[in-house]
Amino acid sequence: MNDVNTTGADRLSRRMERGCAFLGSEMAIMAGAMSWVSERNLVAAMSNAGGFGLIACGAMKPALLDAEIAATKALTVRPFGVNLITMHPQLDELIAVCARHSVGHVVLAGGLPPKGALEAIKASGAKVICFAPTLALAKKLIRSGVDALVIEGMEAGGHIGPVSTSVLAQEMLPDIADKVPVFVAGGIGRGEAIAGYLDMGAAGVQLGTRFVCATECVAHPNFKRAFIRASARDAVASVQIDPRLPVIPVRALKNAGGELFTAKQREVAQRLDESAVAMVEAQLEIEHYWAGALRRAVIDGDVEHGSVMAGQSVGMVTKEEPIADIIAQLMAQAADALRARAA
Ligand SMILES: Cc1cc2nc3c(=O)[nH]c(=O)nc-3n(C[C@H](O)[C@H](O)[C@H](O)COP(=O)(O)O)c2cc1C
Repeated sequence: MNDVNTTGADRLSRRMERGCAFLGSEMAIMAGAMSWVSERNLVAAMSNAGGFGLIACGAMKPALLDAEIAATKALTVRPFGVNLITMHPQLDELIAVCARHSVGHVVLAGGLPPKGALEAIKASGAKVICFAPTLALAKKLIRSGVDALVIEGMEAGGHIGPVSTSVLAQEMLPDIADKVPVFVAGGIGRGEAIAGYLDMGAAGVQLGTRFVCATECVAHPNFKRAFIRASARDAVASVQIDPRLPVIPVRALKNAGGELFTAKQREVAQRLDESAVAMVEAQLEIEHYWAGALRRAVIDGDVEHGSVMAGQSVGMVTKEEPIADIIAQLMAQAADALRARAA
């Protein structure tokens, strides 16, 4: 059939075919793992709606992850994955938990995979997905045997790199999209952008911010309200105050919590000066700070002093609605865009 004559929906499903085959889902849209947010309810709802949910392991201990996977399985028979943070001190045990549950897809986030992690995951039969911050590292990860990559721009919520999604996509997709499925993340709020990245060679996309106000998401009502009120320019990157203490920037809504983070950095930097703490410990302490601050906002609802991690697409979140409706809107917008382009 001539591409121009097919409907937008056909064109969209053809462009998502590879991503869907890789994920085992109906749509090549992943709900990016969000610590405290991406637990059994949101993950199962996402997969049940035809997308692909990911449990955020964050700082969970192996027993807790075990329980979370089991609980998610009780809510969906569809595939879902688990996102593990590479610097977790019990990474090997967490990988073993995923293997025991025959989790099909494991995402390694927060840095390059440590030695043996990739092999251990693949030995369990699961597919490994990693984040590629640069083209050179993407190629290295592909040589090491990753099954798919996520490229995430600085528009995203949570921990971010320095480069925008549009630049990463242009720089990396032409070189790597034919080698492994690549999922584009960061700043995607509507389906037109999904259509654009698929046309550039992406196998699918990953969104986080857009799913926070899903009805099924357990985030505190204050957290959701903050998202609904915010506009793109409210989602700002944290600032590093001491050149000796490199901290990965985090994008979150502007609030008093930003000042608490500055104070925390000062305190840790001072202890670094006094050699009271080693650099690795200092950086871990910063990461623990974020986990605690995010919990305070997501679970306790303290959106003034906690961390309301959100991407720049937050301005496109306008109400609470079922995740199936959010996905349906994204798919319809993407299909319309592809039909318009063909016409
Ligand atoms: C509240 C929040 C928490 C997040 N936590 C994590 C996390 O624990 N691990 C991770 O790999 N990514 C995390 N992310 C990033 C998301 O998985 C996803 O890649 C990102 O939100 C996509 O960009 P978007 O926010 O522009 O849609 C988080 C994002 C948000 C908004």
